[in-house]
Amino acid sequence: MKKKILILGSTGSVGVNTLRVVEEFKGHFSVAGLAAGSKAADLARQIESFRPQGVYIKDSKAALELRRQFGASLKVMAEEDGLHHFCAGIDFDILVAATSGTTALLSVIDALKKGKRVALANKEILVAAGGLVMRELAKNPGASLIPIDSEHSAIFQCLHGSRAQDVARLILTGSGGPLREIAGEDFARVSKETVVNHPKWKMGMKISVDSATLMNKGLEIIEASWLFGLGVDQIQVLVHPEAVVHSMVEFKDGAILAQLGVADMRLPIQYALSFPSRLSAPARCLDFKELSLLHFSAPDRKKFPCLDLAYQAARQSGSAPCVLSAADEVAVGAYLEDKIRFIDIPQVIERVLGHHHHVQDPDLDMIQSIHDWAVEETKKLCLAC
Ligand SMILES: NC(=O)c1ccc[n+]([C@@H]2O[C@H](COP(=O)([O-])OP(=O)(O)OC[C@H]3O[C@@H](n4cnc5c(N)ncnc54)[C@H](OP(=O)(O)O)[C@@H]3O)[C@@H](O)[C@H]2O)c1
Repeated sequence: MKKKILILGSTGSVGVNTLRVVEEFKGHFSVAGLAAGSKAADLARQIESFRPQGVYIKDSKAALELRRQFGASLKVMAEEDGLHHFCAGIDFDILVAATSGTTALLSVIDALKKGKRVALANKEILVAAGGLVMRELAKNPGASLIPIDSEHSAIFQCLHGSRAQDVARLILTGSGGPLREIAGEDFARVSKETVVNHPKWKMGMKISVDSATLMNKGLEIIEASWLFGLGVDQIQVLVHPEAVVHSMVEFKDGAILAQLGVADMRLPIQYALSFPSRLSAPARCLDFKELSLLHFSAPDRKKFPCLDLAYQAARQSGSAPCVLSAADEVAVGAYLEDKIRFIDIPQVIERVLGHHHHVQDPDLDMIQSIHDWAVEETKKLCLAC
C-alpha cells in the first residue's frame, strides 16, 4: 500500500525536495494534499504532476484562480478556511510539516491526535510549543514524530535501539554558515547576498539568514531537547564546515556514534517517510577517498550572540522559546525587507526577550497570544532601529 503524503509548504525548499522523493519512489508514496503560501503557478504545476485530493493556498485570489483552472474535482481552500481544517479533510498517512514559523502548529497537533506520522522540518513548531506537541505525541500511541532536519535525523538514526539513560550528550554539527570566515567587526557591512548564500545547503530565505546568525543552531538545540528528552546543557554545538558528519551521540561509556553522508535534504526526508525501512540512495553516496580533512571547532559565541540567546531562552523554558522564535521570525523578515541591519537582529531579539512576561507552562491559547505579543513587540522595536 502506498503511503499518502500531505505536504505543508510544498512550494518551498523542503516541500520541493519531498516531492522529488515521492517522484523517485512512486511505488511507495502518493501525494494526498499540498499546501502553499503564495506561489500559485508552482502549486498548479505540482497539482498537474501529482494529482492530490485537495490543495490549500493562503492567498484567496490565488485559490479562486486554482478553482477556475482545475474545476470541481479538486478541493481548494484558502486562509479564511484555516490550514488545519484543510488538513482535516484530507485522507493521509504522513504529514510533512515544511512551512516556517508556527503556521502549521494546529495541523501538527491534529495529526498526532489522529495517530498519524508527522515528518517535521518546521523546527519553530517544537521551539514555540514543544511541551504541547510532545504531550500530544505521548498521549497517542499510534502517532510518531520523525525529524527531517538533517542534524536531528542523524541523531534519531544514531539513537535507534539505545536506551535513553545511556546517552551522555548530543553533538549538533553545523557548517558555521556563510559568515564563518568573516570577522565580526565586518558584519555591519556584509551584503544580503553574502548572508543568504549558504555554503552547503540551498534553503528558504528565513532559515538561510538564521544560518548566518547561528540562530538556526540555537533553534535546533531547543528542537533536539524536545525530540530526544535531554536538557539543553547536554547538547553541544560544533562547527564542522565540510557538513559530512550530520551530528553525533555520545554515550555514557564514551562511545560516540555519528551519522555521515552527502549534504542532500532528500536523504533525511526519505528516511522520515520510509522509517523504519530504508530506500535506495537518491544521490551519489559519500566517497571517503574524496575526503581529505574533517574539521571541528567550537562556535564563536561572541561573534554569533544568537546562539547564547537561544541557550538562555531554552534554560528559561516556558514561554521564552516561543518569544525567541517569534522575535527572530519578525526580525529576519524586517532584515530581508531592508528595514533593519543584519547586526540589529540579535539586539532586537534580546530586547523582546527582556520585555516579555514569563509563563511557565503555557497552553495552546497562551502560546498563540504570547506569539502575537512577541510579533507586535518586535515590529515596534524594528521600527525604532
Ligand atoms: N530548507 C532546508 O533545507 C531545511 C532544512 C532543515 C529544516 N528546515 C526547516 O523547514 C521549514 C521550511 O524551510 P524551507 O527552507 O523549505 O522554507 P521555504 O523555502 O521558505 O518554504 C516555506 C514554505 O511554506 C509555505 N508557506 C508560507 N506561508 C504559508 C502559509 N501561511 N500557509 C501554507 N504554506 C505557507 C511557502 O509557500 P510559498 O512559497 O508559496 O509562499 C513555502 O512552500 C523551516 O522551518 C526550516 O527551518 C529547512
